[in-house]
Amino acid sequence: MSASDEPLVKGRRHFLASATTLAAAASVAPALAHARARQPATAEPVEAAVVPFFGEHQAGIATPQQSHVYFAAFDVATEKRDELIAMLKVWTAAAARLSQGQPVAPLSGDGSKEPVDSGEAQGLSPARLTLTFGFGPGLFAKDGQDRFGLGARRPAALVDLPRFNGDQLVAERTGGDLCIQACANDPQVAFHAVRQLSRLSYGAARLRWAQPGFLSSNRATHETPRNLMGFKDGTMNPDRANPKVMGDFVWAGAETPWMQGGSYLVARPIRIALEHWDRMKLAFQEQVVGRHKDTGAPLGKQGEFDALDLDANDADGNPVLPENSHVRLGAPELNDGAQILRRSYSYDNGLSFTAERWPPWRQAMEFDAGLMFLCFQGDPRQGFIKIFERMSKFDMMNQFVTHIGGGVFACPPGVQEGGYIGQALFAQA
Ligand code: HEM
Repeated sequence: MSASDEPLVKGRRHFLASATTLAAAASVAPALAHARARQPATAEPVEAAVVPFFGEHQAGIATPQQSHVYFAAFDVATEKRDELIAMLKVWTAAAARLSQGQPVAPLSGDGSKEPVDSGEAQGLSPARLTLTFGFGPGLFAKDGQDRFGLGARRPAALVDLPRFNGDQLVAERTGGDLCIQACANDPQVAFHAVRQLSRLSYGAARLRWAQPGFLSSNRATHETPRNLMGFKDGTMNPDRANPKVMGDFVWAGAETPWMQGGSYLVARPIRIALEHWDRMKLAFQEQVVGRHKDTGAPLGKQGEFDALDLDANDADGNPVLPENSHVRLGAPELNDGAQILRRSYSYDNGLSFTAERWPPWRQAMEFDAGLMFLCFQGDPRQGFIKIFERMSKFDMMNQFVTHIGGGVFACPPGVQEGGYIGQALFAQA
């Protein structure tokens, strides 16, 4: 039986009950799509605002970055394999609809029941919503115990991240058996999507931690966006349009067959001591990053996209790009060729006056803000871990940033129509 023939609904749980309405809603999709097309003339055409959900790779990895993210990690609450699979099928059906700007179920209906879709995205553009799903180590085993019969299927590349120098990971913002990266050009669309998926999973999975983020750039000029340190961020990244580069660095290979064409995500909320950073002289800020603040050009160069000159020395014989500058430590040439696809977002959680005892300047921190660092790679051992091993020890930027949480997730390949998220993992087990 193909996945599309199987009923979405099995069992008694609340999330499965919601799926009945979800399945019924699928039949009204064309009418809704038509309704959504009646938008003011100034709005982005609906088709241009849709990133297809189905495909060879999951959307939200090679997809050009949208302006907002809502990242959420979940713990799986059920221990029953068929309930986990049922939930992934429900998520698949809902994600496909949400990506097209459709609610998971119509807003009108039986007044005696709670609405299946909460409604806040009604009338909004699909906003290039992408939903990228990942599996954390805890899906395969917990406390040394196999889960869902998947223990032996855990990819070797899905390693537990080592403890890095300076890590101050807070348990409540770390880990997760599953993750969803929702990206969209409208924060309400991204939030709405995670909210619906969370509601549909009641009883089977529960939210563990979440982090929204934003990334502004001038849409007309397509300039590289700036992070909260005020520097252009995302200049050097593997070329998403080059299949060879993506194959070499971003997509997982055949080592774990069910992951082939997928990618590994490392997510780390990183708090930045903005108050401390803002007191640094411009020239020092530039030395920390290794690039000019205004243009984004590497130190000693004119253009943002000029190559780093790792061998250039100044008149005193010191490297133009300081040994412990961020971009030097991140350069592929000094990391055995390692490259990762960075897809990070700034975050702002308002103010927090929680005093950290060390370093002393953190005691004066006010903004609870920083970078929701998100990066994709074919193997974290050859990507994030390789690069960050050295960076976490030597980067001058470390005196301004603290990793406060995060996780590592295996994002399976894309879903084919009629299939469901991670189907090959369960099909083989
Ligand atoms: C708050 C934390 C961070 C900030 C503010 C930050 C900022 C920046 C900036 C401004 C650049 C230069 C522009 C560019 O090429 O995109 C850059 C480059 C880079 N960053 Fe970060 N970064 C942070 C964390 C990290 C982490 C945790 C890693 C882990 C591996 C990393 C890896 C890289 C790499 C690989 C490059 C490109 C280097 C090159 O090839 O030139 N960054 N980052």
